[in-house]
Amino acid sequence: MINFWEKLERPIFALAPLSGVTDSAFRRICREFGADVVYSELASTTALAHNPRLTLAMLRFDESERPYVVQLFGSNPEYFAKSAKLVTEVLQPDGIDINFGCPVAKVIRQGAGAALMANLPQAREVISAVIDNTHLPVSIKTRIKAKDVEIADFLEYMTDLDIKALMLHGRTLTQRFSGPNDFKGTREARRHFPGVFLANGGANNAANGIELLQQTGADGVGVGRGALGRPWIFREMKALLNGGRKGPIAATDIFRVALRHAKMAEELKGRRGILEMRKHLCWYIQSIPDAGKIRQKLAGVNNLENIQEILDSIELP
Ligand SMILES: Cc1cc2nc3c(=O)[nH]c(=O)nc-3n(C[C@H](O)[C@H](O)[C@H](O)COP(=O)(O)O)c2cc1C
Repeated sequence: MINFWEKLERPIFALAPLSGVTDSAFRRICREFGADVVYSELASTTALAHNPRLTLAMLRFDESERPYVVQLFGSNPEYFAKSAKLVTEVLQPDGIDINFGCPVAKVIRQGAGAALMANLPQAREVISAVIDNTHLPVSIKTRIKAKDVEIADFLEYMTDLDIKALMLHGRTLTQRFSGPNDFKGTREARRHFPGVFLANGGANNAANGIELLQQTGADGVGVGRGALGRPWIFREMKALLNGGRKGPIAATDIFRVALRHAKMAEELKGRRGILEMRKHLCWYIQSIPDAGKIRQKLAGVNNLENIQEILDSIELP
């Protein structure tokens, strides 16, 4: 087995999985800006086990994205086994991750995501099923607590399983995506896990990312929402860590990245790519003063020309 996790230089700056966001175009942009590893959107093992065509298409990637980790969710160990085999053979990513953190109702109802974290025997079966059906390194993404299961209990229960990496969102299932991140609990969890350990949650800008890294003593951090419209956050975190302080990115550079992203999205997904770009474009211009009206226009774009025209029309101070 090639365990790419061990080969990454520390600290590791990862693009965390974000459903509806971390598609191939966005992952490529984040890799260009220094993300050391990128995760797919969560992929359903029910779909992969029964009718995999669309899900496999969603998970396709470009060589430039490596190291690339495919994240699976579900609750049935048999479906995980089939999915791990299929993803390994057909896609050949660098790693497979299992989702134990998703708090969304339709995922929880299936006993998946954070509900699976709370079900220790089944979580263990799922992890074993994946490990037994791939030669790729297997990682997990969990919360600090789900229902009455704390991360330390979870890790102790899995202690003999060959899990190569963990991304730990330092919030409980009840907190979902807001409220304080438990730095202390994350630091303590590290003692229960021998593999590569990434802290996650609240790295909304470079300074917060470095704080998360240093306060938790992790091997790296996973950045989710902090990368929305700001894929250069990875470069900024590296610069900050090395003592450099770069000024804010120039608006013209933001427009250049946004347009490049849109072109790639169209190339990969056609019109759907442009429609999905609408939200990214609104995120990209967050830092532009008086962006309200422009945002309205960007939220209705239909093609690359529209996007170019709107960006060209913005008067910069
Ligand atoms: C829109 C959205 C989609 C997400 N999709 C996933 C996902 O597919 N898999 C996963 O493990 N976590 C997912 N998450 C959780 C993030 O990976 C991350 O754990 C969480 O947002 C906290 O990190 P952050 O504060 O850096 O965003 C998602 C979060 C958001 C906001």
